[in-house]
Amino acid sequence: MKIRRSMLYVPAISEKMIRKSVELKADAIILDLEDAVAPDQKENAREILKNLLNELSFGEKEIVVRVNGLQSGLTEEDLKNTLSDKIDAVLLPKVLSEEDVKNFEGMVEKISKEKGIKKEIKIHLMIETPSSVLRIREICGASEKLSALLLGSADLSKEMRCKNKKDILQPLMSLVIAGGRTKNLDVIDAPFFNIKDLEGLERDCLLAKEMGFDGKQVIHPSQIETINKIFSPSEEEIQWAERVISQYEPAMKKGIGVISIDGEMIERLHYEQALRIKRLAERR
Ligand code: COA
Ligand code: MG
Repeated sequence: MKIRRSMLYVPAISEKMIRKSVELKADAIILDLEDAVAPDQKENAREILKNLLNELSFGEKEIVVRVNGLQSGLTEEDLKNTLSDKIDAVLLPKVLSEEDVKNFEGMVEKISKEKGIKKEIKIHLMIETPSSVLRIREICGASEKLSALLLGSADLSKEMRCKNKKDILQPLMSLVIAGGRTKNLDVIDAPFFNIKDLEGLERDCLLAKEMGFDGKQVIHPSQIETINKIFSPSEEEIQWAERVISQYEPAMKKGIGVISIDGEMIERLHYEQALRIKRLAERR
C-alpha cells in the first residue's frame, strides 16, 4: 500500500525542478506533461522527462506521470515516451466517462506490451469535470488498475461556473469520495494555490481531512511539511487507536461486540478505524 499524504506537481519541462524533487519529502511526485507545460513545449518536455526518468532514482516515492487528456490528441505519444519500469502510475486528466477510462487502460496495456514493461502500472484519474462527478461510480468500476482519484477543483469550479471554495464544492467533493470508497481508491484533495499562506493551507488541510480526503496535491516544496503532518495520524489518534485495539480484541474473543472506553461506545467499525490509523502510523 502506497501512502499518498502529499503528491507534488513538478513541471516536466523543468530539469531543475525534477532534479530537486528527488530530495523532497513528498510521498508522490507527479511529473506533469499537461497544464504545467505550454502547448509548443510538449515534445521538448517529453524528451527531458524520458531522459531524467532513465537517469534518476526517486527511492520510495511514488512516481506518477500526468499525461495530456484524451481530447488533446497527445495522450498516446505521451505514454509512448514515458511509460517505463521507473514509473508507478499514470494520471489521466479531464476524464468524462467510464469509456474514457477503458480507452486509456487499453492504451496503457498496448504500449506497455510493445515496450516489454513487466511492471503493473497503476492508473490515477483527475476528477475535474461535472460529467465525471455525476458518473463517479461507473468510472471507479471501469478498470482494475485504478488506484487514486485526484480532485481538480480549479477546472471543476470553472466548468460549474462557481467559486473554487470548499463550502461551495462540498457536495460534489463528498460524492467523489463516496465513489472512490466503493472501490477502495485513495481520494486526494486539490492543491492550495496561495503558496505564501501556510496558515490558510493548514486550515484547508484540516477541513479536507475531516471530509475524508486521504491527502493533498502540492504545488510548492514549502507546502509539503504541513500537508504530511496533517494527513498523518496525530498522537491523540494513535493513542485512541491503541486503546481501542487493546481492549476490543480481548472482548471480541469472549464474543462481546460492543464495549465502552472512557464513556464512549466502541463497536467493530471503531475497531476497524483503529486498525487503519495504526497501519498509517506504522508507515510514516
Ligand atoms: N517541484 C520541485 N521544485 C520546486 C517546485 C516544484 N513544484 N516549485 C519550486 N521548486 C523549487 C525551485 O526551483 C526553487 O529551487 P532552488 O531553491 O533550488 O532555486 C525552490 O523550490 C523555491 O522555489 P520558488 O523560487 O519559491 O518558486 P518558483 O518561483 O521557482 O516556482 C511555481 C513557483 C509556482 C512556478 C512552481 O512552484 C511550480 O512550477 N509549481 C508546480 C506548478 C504545476 O505543476 N502546476 C500544475 C498542476 S496545478
Ligand atoms: Mg486540471
